[in-house]
Parts: sequence; C-alpha cells; structure tokens
Amino acid sequence: MRAVLCKNFGLPDSLVLEEVPPPSCGPDEVVITVKACGINFPDVLIIQNKYQFKPTLPFSPGGEVAGVVKTAGEKVKQLKPDDRVVALCGWGGLAEEVVVKANRVFPMPPAMDFITASSTLYTYGTSFHALKDRAVLKAGETLLVLGAAGGVGLAAVELSKVMGATVIAAASSDEKLEICKEKGADFTINYTNEDLRERIKQITQEKGVDVVYDPVGGALAEAALRSMAWRGRYLVVGFAAGNIPQFPANLPLLKGCSIVGVFWGSFAERQPQDSLQNFGQLLAWINEGKIKQHIHNVYSLEQAKNALQDLMQRKVRGKAVVKIGDWQEQTVSLAIQEQAEKPKPVSVSKPLVIKRSEIKKYVGQALGVSDWLTVTQEMINNFANATHDYQWIHVDTEKAKTLLPGGKTIAHGYLTLSLASKFFYELLTIEGAATSINYGLNKARFPVAVKSGDRIRMTGRIASVEDMPGGGTKVFLECMMELEGQEKLAYIGELITAIY
Ligand SMILES: NC(=O)c1ccc[n+]([C@@H]2O[C@H](COP(=O)([O-])OP(=O)(O)OC[C@H]3O[C@@H](n4cnc5c(N)ncnc54)[C@H](OP(=O)(O)O)[C@@H]3O)[C@@H](O)[C@H]2O)c1
Repeated sequence: MRAVLCKNFGLPDSLVLEEVPPPSCGPDEVVITVKACGINFPDVLIIQNKYQFKPTLPFSPGGEVAGVVKTAGEKVKQLKPDDRVVALCGWGGLAEEVVVKANRVFPMPPAMDFITASSTLYTYGTSFHALKDRAVLKAGETLLVLGAAGGVGLAAVELSKVMGATVIAAASSDEKLEICKEKGADFTINYTNEDLRERIKQITQEKGVDVVYDPVGGALAEAALRSMAWRGRYLVVGFAAGNIPQFPANLPLLKGCSIVGVFWGSFAERQPQDSLQNFGQLLAWINEGKIKQHIHNVYSLEQAKNALQDLMQRKVRGKAVVKIGDWQEQTVSLAIQEQAEKPKPVSVSKPLVIKRSEIKKYVGQALGVSDWLTVTQEMINNFANATHDYQWIHVDTEKAKTLLPGGKTIAHGYLTLSLASKFFYELLTIEGAATSINYGLNKARFPVAVKSGDRIRMTGRIASVEDMPGGGTKVFLECMMELEGQEKLAYIGELITAIY
C-alpha cells in the first residue's frame, strides 16, 4: 500500500510517499481502508517532533480518517468488514490503510460523505467540549474566538451560535472573516489591521467578553485576557502561533475571571460517556443542518504535504482534507441523483384520478405538473414558529440582506419538503381510500436553495406500491420540485404514504 512517511522529523517538505507493507490488526483493533484524512494542526507538530505524542520513525502523520473497515480483530464485536467508519487514529491516517484500536472507531452517519466525515470529530469535538463543559457558555453571553476561520475556531463560531451566544470572530484577513460571517458571526475583527482591545471595547460597549476561545496563543492572548468581562472564562485551547502566553497573575484577580484549560483528547479518554453524549448532540445538529463543516480544499495523497504546508502558512479556511484513492461517493440517494435536472413536463389530467383497487396498474405512472406556488417570508416564519428552528438564515431578513447571496432568506429544506403533500393533493386523487397517512421519507435531496419570494412547482411519479399487513397499501411517491428560472431542482425525494 502507499503511505506518506515521516522518516526524519522536519517540515512538510521532508515527507515522502512510498510503498509499504499493508498493516494487520491485533485482537481489539481494526484495519481501515482510508478514503479521506482530515488535516489538523497536530499533524504539523507531530512531524516536527513538537507534539505531546511521539511515534517512532518512520510513521505516517494523519490523526483523523473516514473509510471502510477492511478487517476486524477477533475481540471486536461492534464493527465488521465494509462498515463505513470514522476514526481518531492519532497518526497513520495519510496512508491507504491504517490500523486503529476499535474503541477509537465510530460508525459514520449514513447521510455523511467521507470528506466531511474525516474532518468533523476533531474540530467539533474539541470546540463543543470547550464551550459546553469548560466555559459553560450560556445563551446571551458574548464570545470572542481567535483564529476564528481555522479548524477548531470555525467550529467554535458555529457551535456558539447554535448555543445562543453573540459571537465576535477575530482572524488575520477579511477573506477569512467572510467565512466566519457565513457561519453566523455577529461581529468581526481583523487583527492584522485593527486593535483587538479597542474593537472589543467598542463592540461590547466597554463591558468586555464573557468567554475567550483561544487556539492561537502568542501576542494576542494578553490583549484578549485584558478584554474580558467580570467573571469571564478564558479558554486555553492551543498555541498555533507557536509561543505559549505568560499571563500576569493580577489580571484574573482584577477581573474575577478564570483561565480554563481545554484538553479534549484527555477528556474523551477520562470521560468516555460524556464524550459520547457530546457526539450525540453534535450528530443531531449535523443531521438538522445546524452545523456543517467548511471544506477549504481536497488534496490527493501525492499533494498531502501541500495540505500540511497550507495549514502552516495560515492559508486554510475551515478544513483541509486529503482524499485517498480514486473513489466516487455513493450517496444514499444515488437512485434519484440522475434525475437532478428539470423533468420533462408530461400531460396527464390534473388531478389524475385512480381507483384504490387499481393502484398497482399505475406503478411508473408520471403525474402532471402542479401550479406555481410562491414561498413567502410569512410561510418561512410560520414554519420557524411551528418547528422552533429560528436559524437566522431563515428568519432574519435584515442580516440576510447583507450576508446571503441575493440578499434573501432561505426556506428551511424541510419546509420545501413539507409542501409535497399540498402538491400531491393537486396532482393525484385515489378514489376509495378512506384515509392516507404520510409516514415515511425514503430519499430527500435539496440541490438548490429556495429563497423567500421564489416560485416552486412539483411533478412526480408513482414509484412503487406494496401491500401492508392489515389491509393497507404502501405507496411510494417520487417527487421533483422545480424552482422557477433554475435548471437544478429544489427538492427531489420519495415519500411513503399508507392508504386504507
Ligand atoms: N486543546 C485541545 O484539546 C485541542 C484540540 C484540537 C486542537 N487544538 C489546538 O488548537 C490549535 C488550532 O488547531 P486547528 O487544527 O484548528 O489549526 P488551524 O486550522 O491551522 O487554525 C489555527 C489558526 O491559528 C491562526 N494562526 C496564528 N498564527 C499562526 C501560525 N503561526 N501558524 C498557523 N496558524 C496560525 C490562524 O488564523 P489567522 O491566520 O486568522 O490568525 C489559523 O487559522 C492548535 O494549536 C491545536 O494543537 C487543541
């Protein structure tokens, strides 16, 4: 197999790509065929022998991977070959195969792709532990994030917004701060050309910030500590700038504030249950679309050293990921992916009226096209009220004007999806059905966002029909929602309706 090797400690340039024997696993380990390896700051430290863990030479860097289990040791019960997994391997990930202790390997969320999965655990895991367990961040508090467009920094921006904080993102360039704004930052500070303390005073009206999230260290650290509010918490996360800050002890005394250490790896080892609970919450937010990794660039294994170089040279925004092997992502909705383009209109009566007893004859039957429907801000607000999901991209029209492309809020994907029922009533009548229950969703994709004021319409197809125990009939209805003026569809999915 091919592996990126660190044969002598040094800078990324000294790494080599070589053929090495494939690894085999012990009884409580698994061998993973690596599909993607997320690049994190410790990767650049470990190859220079500057990290707390010191593998013996030669070794492959790469601490976080997504891939497929190739073999599992005899004591491993929860994992088997072909399982899609994510793993925290420490090092060894920049190779076609890696061997990992089974307790550091987790099932990959089904809807996630390998690139995203390989760059999720470490950053969100660290930042959530820091904000929730160490800072005990509360809704309404103000948080300053240094290095806010970096891996853990951007995760902290996103998570603290979900947790209800006001976020000040600070980074070295306007380009980096743009990404922070997209992720919800309320205020930004470019510390290359703005005075950190003065800007914080201005933004917080002299009060200071409640929490500082610092993965950078160096010269900014003391200025940030001096900008804290009474009873604030200063999170010591990392020292990407290279030097470890030395704080005058009078500062925490005068501000009644705490300097709090964050060591996520140790937390996960010492408190595995708490760490798993954190992952459960993060997964829920990922599935709800509340947080999503920003991928800066995908590199090949041959380009792995460039990924590490880019990270060291502060070029990366969000995450750099190395894709290993020539693979195509197989998403769960592959079957409907081919139809992501606008369907050809068919002419059938509207609604198409069919007898319940004859429904099986109609498998494959295309439905007509509904009338256009305008998705208004009022509908979007009502949806937010009904679901309690008030993400600003949906409801904050003023912020949308400055931050979103086109200046308009975006309808929740599930709002678009929920309109399928309305359109189906328009397109299909099943005679002889006492009632129908929409109880399942087989596939759902939202290729293009629907903005407030956009017009959508739907067509569909009876995809398949199954008998149910108790006399019901399960009808699989494929639906495609078209957005006026767009080639790509707003929604493609398959709904399951039970009729009785
Ligand atoms: N305590 C823990 O449990 C824990 C867990 C994970 C990571 N960490 C630490 O957190 C830090 C950040 O990790 P990461 O993976 O998020 O790294 P990253 O993506 O490279 O982000 C680091 C950020 O630091 C800033 N920076 C300032 N001076 C820098 C320099 N000389 N070289 C590189 N970056 C510099 C950069 O932002 P600007 O250009 O905007 O200044 C950069 O975006 C590292 O020190 C890492 O070891 C700690």
